[in-house]
Amino acid sequence: MAKVLIAGGAGFIGSHTCLVLLEAGHQLVVFDNFSTGSPESLRRVQELTGTAGSDRLRVVEGDIRRPLDLSKAFATGWGRFDAVIHFAGLKAVAQSVHEPLLYWDVNVGGSQHLLAAMAEHGCHTLVFSSSATVYGLPERIPIPETAAVLPINPYGHTKAAVERMLADLAASDGRQAPEGGEPRSGGWRIARLRYFNPVGAHSSGRIGEDPQGPPDNLFPYVSQVALGRRPRLQVFGGDWPTPDGTGIRDYIHVMDLAEGHLATLEALWNEPPQLLTLNLGSGRGYSVLEVVRAFERASDRMVPFDLVARRAGDAAHSVADSSEALRRLGWWARRDLSQMCADGWAWQQRHPQGYRSAG
Ligand code: UFG
Repeated sequence: MAKVLIAGGAGFIGSHTCLVLLEAGHQLVVFDNFSTGSPESLRRVQELTGTAGSDRLRVVEGDIRRPLDLSKAFATGWGRFDAVIHFAGLKAVAQSVHEPLLYWDVNVGGSQHLLAAMAEHGCHTLVFSSSATVYGLPERIPIPETAAVLPINPYGHTKAAVERMLADLAASDGRQAPEGGEPRSGGWRIARLRYFNPVGAHSSGRIGEDPQGPPDNLFPYVSQVALGRRPRLQVFGGDWPTPDGTGIRDYIHVMDLAEGHLATLEALWNEPPQLLTLNLGSGRGYSVLEVVRAFERASDRMVPFDLVARRAGDAAHSVADSSEALRRLGWWARRDLSQMCADGWAWQQRHPQGYRSAG
């Protein structure tokens, strides 16, 4: 049983990962400022894993930009943490264009504070939530991890900057001295996980994605249209160089993604210190129209849509070469598009207003 600090553990991917780690027997401290995540998601994670009242999951409210909050989180464990998983950050591409300094402050500044706290408290194992957004407009599909890192928006720049910070840290072999103290030895074990498009929900329909305001992303938008909460979907571009003219993405079930984090932790713990960089995607691409049809089948509802102009900053294709994750972790995305739609729909139907819905 390991002790893991989950920064940003109350969000969409974080909450599903907490569930998988609790089921694997680990002890967790979730650190979250609840700006986008929900404490209710964690209550339900405890309920689903039968850990309510067991002290296997502790929650510390705080902000990764505040060293005092971080100190509180590191003092809340059961001694030294065996790893940190870092989900805490902002992820709306359009907002990042309007508020770049906020994105640099939270995503880059916050990560720097978290890493400093890890060094100070002798924890050198980290899984970082990066994104396929670091590839920008990819030159070839599927995208291998060796492809150029050339993001095209401020959000992507912040993810690439943290990736760079982690590479520098890995190369330093973890010998930072805490203020006034002895340098610590021991190499860093770091994974940079580049997520493709996470969707779906836990099959119970009790936890899922809960965007605040109109969703930026296709899946939550489609499910709100199916529900009747929004009238029509806008399909951004019908003239992409793809078979049906709409954009192609690599959608991955959030439970597969969560299991990928557990597999990554196990690899980091069992192997010598390293810097691991992996795509987490399914390796399969679907167009917007294919997603709409699959969602209609899963929900037995109509998803009316209009074809409109392309969205600025979109690429035609984004599909992972997922072979490295299979080779390094023995992990692959097992759940297919129909399951992503069915599970996402079960969550949406039971929670028309997300965690604000009763029950
Ligand atoms: N789309 C629509 N209508 C919508 C929303 C999206 O047609 O209302 C289309 C997009 O144009 C794109 C596809 O659906 O072709 C997927 O769009 P998303 O916004 O769901 O996802 P993106 O691939 O644009 O971006 C997502 C995350 C980023 C992350 C990136 C990684 O939002 O944070 O995946 O590739 F970096």
